[in-house]
Amino acid sequence: MSLPQNLFSAMSKTMAPYSPIEPPDQIAKRLGISEDQIVKLDANENPYGTLPEAQAAVAKAQYGHIYPDPAQAQLKEAIARYAGVEPAQVIAGAGADELIDLVCRLVLEPGDQVLGFSPSFGYYGHVVALNRGVMINQARELDFSIDLKKAKAIDLKGVKLVLLCSPNNPTGNLVEEAVLDYFLSQDLIVMLDEAYQEFSQHNFVHKLAGHKNLVILRTFSKCFALAGYRVGYGLMGEELAQGLMRIKPPYSVSVPAEVALKACLAEPEHFKNQVAKLKTERARALQELAKFPGLTPYPSQSNFVLVKVAQNAAKLKADLEARGILVRYFNTPELNGYIRISMGRPEQMDRLYQTLHLLLA
Ligand SMILES: Cc1ncc(COP(=O)(O)O)c(C=O)c1O
Repeated sequence: MSLPQNLFSAMSKTMAPYSPIEPPDQIAKRLGISEDQIVKLDANENPYGTLPEAQAAVAKAQYGHIYPDPAQAQLKEAIARYAGVEPAQVIAGAGADELIDLVCRLVLEPGDQVLGFSPSFGYYGHVVALNRGVMINQARELDFSIDLKKAKAIDLKGVKLVLLCSPNNPTGNLVEEAVLDYFLSQDLIVMLDEAYQEFSQHNFVHKLAGHKNLVILRTFSKCFALAGYRVGYGLMGEELAQGLMRIKPPYSVSVPAEVALKACLAEPEHFKNQVAKLKTERARALQELAKFPGLTPYPSQSNFVLVKVAQNAAKLKADLEARGILVRYFNTPELNGYIRISMGRPEQMDRLYQTLHLLLA
């Protein structure tokens, strides 16, 4: 007997699942190739892998049988030191994803509006809907910037939360300071997602002073190569932090995640080197990709490059995948003519360019 449909909430019945990325081992199996043949450039992960010292620290860690500290005392201290804020301004979660959800839960009543600028990170709309908010997406300009004059013309009555992302995923550009300042001056919460800030070496943490309505979200998934560990954090004023502490699940950051991130924060030079290498690949990608007929790469401040594809972008993604190279394709009206390529190790990027030669020459 099937479950009566009225046991599901109306919202959950109409929701499409978040479009997942297929794990590389499954793709390798499907393609009949070995996993080490896969070049994974589809999720903006760090292609150099987890820091060996972090893995060793996790292997040696005690306290796996004991719950993590729900007050996150040591975790907050370690992150605060890295981010240059006070521990009381930090909340950690199971990835920035969890914090996006918690911020929505903290501020939204059913029907409240959330303003975003598309294209941006697709998960925002999903989480806003889950929290029974109404996502209003304002289109970006042709170069993916946000026009201040147009932003000021948006009716903010009913808008409780504004979502900004800098550098923006998937377009790679920074948010304009004047746009951020404008929304911060309004009677609403601004969530600024800086998941990729290590690659732009630019951030707005200084705006926390004097702006109690700002939440900055970050992650250890990208630069710090801990995507599988699931840990991210928010930086904010103490009132918002206290609000999030009231509603957060007690134990969502695991003991191994905390051990791993502390080991990473102890090796800043290691990650600075990797960021430098990825920035070199980014500069090379802009040059190399522009040489292919029909491909237009966009400048990026992040570890990925968005590429406009004059040919069929979905087919190009599929053709690359058939040869073991995974890039991101978004099946949305705004982005279905683009692919997003995460920066890999030099030899991985060489394979991408060689394969594009075969496919597009
Ligand atoms: C802009 C942006 N924010 C947040 C996240 C989520 O990061 P996490 O792995 O910490 O949940 C991502 C992941 O791709 C992202 O691109």
